[in-house]
Amino acid sequence: MRGWLLFHNDVADDVPEAPEMRRFMEVGKRRGIKLDVLRPRDFELIVSTEREWRAEYAGGKLPRPDFIIPRTGSETSYFTLAVIRQFERMGVPLINGAEAVEACADKLQTLQLLSASGLPIPRTILAKFPVDVDLIERELGFPVVVKKLRSTRGAGVVLCQDRDQFDDLASLLGEAAHQSDFIFQQYIAKSHGRDVRLLVIGGLVAAAMERRSLTGNFKSNISLGGIGECVDPPEEMARLAIEAAKSLRLDIAGIDMLYDEKGYRICEANSAPGFVGLEKACPVSVPDKVLDYVAARLKPPTPARRSIWSRIPFGRMRKETSPEKEKA
Ligand SMILES: Nc1ncnc2c1ncn2[C@@H]1O[C@H](COP(=O)(O)OP(=O)(O)O)[C@@H](O)[C@H]1O
Ligand SMILES: [Mg+2]
Repeated sequence: MRGWLLFHNDVADDVPEAPEMRRFMEVGKRRGIKLDVLRPRDFELIVSTEREWRAEYAGGKLPRPDFIIPRTGSETSYFTLAVIRQFERMGVPLINGAEAVEACADKLQTLQLLSASGLPIPRTILAKFPVDVDLIERELGFPVVVKKLRSTRGAGVVLCQDRDQFDDLASLLGEAAHQSDFIFQQYIAKSHGRDVRLLVIGGLVAAAMERRSLTGNFKSNISLGGIGECVDPPEEMARLAIEAAKSLRLDIAGIDMLYDEKGYRICEANSAPGFVGLEKACPVSVPDKVLDYVAARLKPPTPARRSIWSRIPFGRMRKETSPEKEKA
C-alpha cells in the first residue's frame, strides 16, 4: 500500500505538527506502507479533458497512490483545496475529503454545519466593522471570546472581560479587518481553562483527553502548556463528538468539547488534529488507528451473501414456472 500525506511545511524540528508526520512515517514503515509527505504547493495543477492518471510534483511525475491523507488543517489554502479536489475527482480515496477539510478550516462554517444538525455550540457572531457593541452585549454578553476565523493551537483566540476591553480590541481589529476575519463568541464560563479533546476515527471515539490550563488561562490547548489526562468520555459527550464528525463528513476528527451548565457544547472540529499530546496522555497509537481505518476502507467489499433465489438452479426455476407445470 502506498499513501500520500499532504503537509504544508517541511518535516523539520521546529515545525508544529512535524512530530505527527514523523509518527506516521515510523508506523507506516513498520507496517510496510509507503507514505510520502508532499507539499500541496509543489504540485502543478493541470485540469484537462484527458482522463488518464497524472500527478506533476516538484518537476517530476508521481504514480497513483492508494489513498491520500490531507494534514493541512486550518492552514488549508485555496490551492491546497484545489489539489485535494483534483485527486478526489480522479477517484483516489481521501481521508478526509475536500468538503470536510474545507468546512473545518473555517470556524464559522463548522459551527453553521453543526447547528444545522441540531448540535450544541456556543452562540457566535461573524464580525462586522465598525462593531455594534450593543448587539454583542445583547446577544453574547461579557466576557466574550474573540477568534480569528482560521486559528489553530489557541494562537488566534482571546477573552475580553468587559465592554471597555472589547471596545478597544474591536477598534484594533477594525484596522486589521482587511487581513483576516473574526468571530465573536459566547464565553462558556464552566469550561474556563478546561475542555475535552475527542479523537473520532471512522465514527468511533479512538481516544479522549481532558485538557487543563496550568496558568489560569481560559484556553486549554496543550500547545499553550495545558496538560492532558486520558478520560473515558461520558456517553453523551461521545455521542455528540461522533455526531459532529458525521455532520462534518470527517473520517478523522479532533473534536473540542466545552463543559456547559447543562451538558456540553462543541467548540471546534479539526480535520488534521495534532496527536502527540494525546499519545502522551492515552495508551493509543494514532497513526495505527488511522491506518487501520484506511485499510478497512480500501478493502474490497466482501461479496454479499447469495440469496436463496440465486442458489436455485436456473433450469429448475424454468421448469417450475413452465407452462407445462401450470397446466398440470
Ligand atoms: N466559547 C468559549 N468559551 C470558553 N472557552 C473557550 C471558548 N472557545 C474556546 N475556548 C478555549 O480556547 C481554546 C482554543 O479555542 P479553539 O476555538 O479550539 O481554537 P484553536 O483552533 O486555536 O484551538 C479551547 O480549547 C478552549 O479551551
Ligand atoms: Mg482547538
